[in-house]
Amino acid sequence: MARTRKNEPYSNSVLPAVYQNTTYFYDNAETYTKALHDKSIIRGRYGRYHNPSWESTEEILAQLDATDTCVLFPSGMSAIYSTLMTFAGSRRCFATIRYLYKNTRRIFERLDTLGLRTIVFDNAEPTDFIEALKRVSQEIDIFLVEMPSNPHLYIADIEKIRALLRPDALLIVDSTLASPHNFKPCVWGADLVIHSCTKYLNGHADLLLGSVAGVKEVIDPIRQFRDMTGAIPSPKDAFTLMQHLKTFKLRMDALNVAGQKLATFLKYHPMVSKVYYLGLDSHPHSKQAQKFFTNGYGGVVTFELNLSKQETSKLIDNLQVPYIASNFGGAETYVEHLSPFTYYNLSQEKREQLHITDSLVRLSVGFNDPIDSIINDLAINLARLNKLEVCG
Ligand SMILES: Cc1ncc(COP(=O)(O)O)c(C=O)c1O
Repeated sequence: MARTRKNEPYSNSVLPAVYQNTTYFYDNAETYTKALHDKSIIRGRYGRYHNPSWESTEEILAQLDATDTCVLFPSGMSAIYSTLMTFAGSRRCFATIRYLYKNTRRIFERLDTLGLRTIVFDNAEPTDFIEALKRVSQEIDIFLVEMPSNPHLYIADIEKIRALLRPDALLIVDSTLASPHNFKPCVWGADLVIHSCTKYLNGHADLLLGSVAGVKEVIDPIRQFRDMTGAIPSPKDAFTLMQHLKTFKLRMDALNVAGQKLATFLKYHPMVSKVYYLGLDSHPHSKQAQKFFTNGYGGVVTFELNLSKQETSKLIDNLQVPYIASNFGGAETYVEHLSPFTYYNLSQEKREQLHITDSLVRLSVGFNDPIDSIINDLAINLARLNKLEVCG
């Protein structure tokens, strides 16, 4: 078949092309030798190293995170794992927090079995956390903080953490639950910011992707690790994320308003015993959050009910608007009873250690569902359950 060069006349397309290719050609030895040695010449080499569809999206993400550059990965977990493993050869002491996304905790347990030193800080009480850190801060090479943490939305004073760590230690912040609209960790001294783009950034539940952003010197070895291991995203997914980023600000503004409204409703409901939402002054970390967050606190609200485990499951089953699903940041509303779902495989004792109580629920407002419909649904079904309890 003859070679075709038909794409060039269509370069006036409003949208960039999706580069699905694995291969790039050169005209002769002179052009590839030049491109290989002069980094200012942008030419593709091979599909595992370069892809214009990734690069355009990475540039937008770096801007959103207020930093230099970004690398995309096929999922948030792949971004976290690849970042930690990039530095596992040269760094020995890895620290993190106790209350965070369960698979990040499992990665740290893996690091431990690989013979690396791991330190886990209790992050429920910010002052105790910083005091504990002071005792070992000079020994830490890499510190990964999730902020806010999943599912309790705890935060940490990353400015203080940065000041306590050695200057050559890396501070990494997974701020998936804030999104760059509400919080930009690099502005506060983080070296790297990680997102599961699967959540708020993409927002349409149609792909998984992860990103790591930071200054070039720190990102370069992570990019080289990706070049080597091939943990690369699909070009089509990178393009789709770029499309969805066009509505990111609008979606986040709407979710910030809706999340606050839902949290306020829950705070005053007699059957709700605790609400974890940083926009409520009843959250133990809300004061600190005001320092770091701009715009709002997102569309995820975690709460505890004055109900048993069975009654909580019944309430969730009866809700009409949310899907029972383990995700957040999408167009649809999702609700999850955490102890029998995400944490089903942990013992009761382990769940209690992680503050996963029997009536803990996480609700993620969907930007396509009017917030009043979600609140009405909850109000009706909480009232029904209350009545059944009284009558029964
Ligand atoms: C805070 C946080 N980080 C990372 C991840 C992992 O992201 P992904 O599902 O894209 O691998 C999740 C997933 O829920 C998460 O909540």
